[in-house]
Amino acid sequence: MEANEKRYDDMIYRRCGRSGILLPAISLGLWHNFGSVDVFSRFIRIAHTAFDNGITHFDLANNYGPVYGSAEENFGQILKKGLGRYRDELIISSKAGYDMWPGPYGNWGSRKYLMASLDQSLKRMGLDYVDIFYSHRPDPLTPVEETMGALADIVRQGKALYAGISNYNDIETKAALAALKKHQVPCLIHQPKYSMFERWVEPKLLPLLKDEGVGLIAFSPLAQGLLTNRYLNGIPENSRAARPTGFLQRNQVTEEIIAKVRKLNDIAIARGQTLAEMALAWLLKDERVSSVLIGASSVEQLLDNLKALGNLQFTKEELNSIESILS
Ligand SMILES: NC(=O)c1ccc[n+]([C@@H]2O[C@H](COP(=O)([O-])OP(=O)(O)OC[C@H]3O[C@@H](n4cnc5c(N)ncnc54)[C@H](OP(=O)(O)O)[C@@H]3O)[C@@H](O)[C@H]2O)c1
Repeated sequence: MEANEKRYDDMIYRRCGRSGILLPAISLGLWHNFGSVDVFSRFIRIAHTAFDNGITHFDLANNYGPVYGSAEENFGQILKKGLGRYRDELIISSKAGYDMWPGPYGNWGSRKYLMASLDQSLKRMGLDYVDIFYSHRPDPLTPVEETMGALADIVRQGKALYAGISNYNDIETKAALAALKKHQVPCLIHQPKYSMFERWVEPKLLPLLKDEGVGLIAFSPLAQGLLTNRYLNGIPENSRAARPTGFLQRNQVTEEIIAKVRKLNDIAIARGQTLAEMALAWLLKDERVSSVLIGASSVEQLLDNLKALGNLQFTKEELNSIESILS
C-alpha cells in the first residue's frame, strides 16, 4: 500500500488537551462495519481512504465486532497488509470496560481485567503498544484508584503511550483525574457520547476537561446515523437500524426524531452541506472538541463526512434555528 502523498494537506489537526498530541478533527471508529459479519474488501478501503485523507486516529475496543474481538483482528490484518508501514503516523486506541469474556474477570474495571484485556488486544492487532488505552466505563464497585492504577502501570510498561477514560460523568471524571495525578500519569482524553441529540457533556464535563487540560473526542457524533439523510424516507435495508447486529434499534427511529431531522436537514441544505456534514461541523465549532469520532459503512459516507471541514462556521441565525429545533 502506498498512501496518498497529499494526505496531510486538507485535514485539520487539533491539540488534545494540554498534551503533545494533535488529533485529526475527524477520527474513525471501528465499533460497527469492521467485524467478522462485515466485508473485508469494503472496510479495508474505508480504512485506507481515511488515512489517505489525513485521518490518523483509529479507535477500537476489545469487544468491537461482532464477534467480540473481530474488529481488532481485522484491523490487525489491515495493518499487516500495508497500513502498518505507517505505524508511527497512526494513533491507535483500544479499551476495556464492557463485557468481553465469561466469568468475573472479563468485564468492568478491575486491574485483572484491564491488564489481561490489553494483552489480548495487542495480540489481535499484532501490535507492541497502543497509543491510547481507555477505561471504557466507570465501575461503581471497583475503587477508581484500582482502575486508574492499572491504566498508569500500563502506560509505565509501555503497552499504551497515553491513558484515557470514556463514559465517566463529571464527578467520576474528577475522581479518575485525581487518581491518575497521584501516579503522575496525565489523562490524555475523555471519550463521551456527544451529538446534537445528546448534549449531557455541555454544562459540566466540557468546562471541567478544558480546565484540566484533557482532550475530548465525541463518539457517535451522528447519533449512529440518525443525524444524516439515512432515515429521511424510512429505514433502508442495509442501514444500522435494519441490521440485526446493529446497536441502533428500529424503534429509536421515531416520527418525532425524523421530524426534527427533516428541519435540521433544511438548514444544512441552505448552508450547502449535507446533514451529516452540518452535524459534525456543529460539534467542531467548539474548539474544546478535539475530534469527532465517526463511523462509516461506505467510502462515500466517509468522504461526505470529511467535507464537513469545509465549513465549521455558523451564523447566529443558524445557531438559533438549530437550538429551537433541538429544544
Ligand atoms: N466509548 C464508547 O462507549 C463508545 C460507544 C459507541 C461508539 N464509540 C466509538 O465511536 C465510533 C463512532 O460511533 P458510531 O458508529 O455510532 O458513529 P456515528 O458517526 O454517529 O454513526 C455512524 C453511522 O452513521 C451512518 N453514516 C455515517 N456517515 C454518514 C453519511 N455521511 N451519510 C449517511 N449516513 C452516514 C452510517 O450508518 P449505516 O451503517 O446505517 O450506513 C454509520 O455506520 C465507534 O466506532 C467507536 O469507535 C465509542
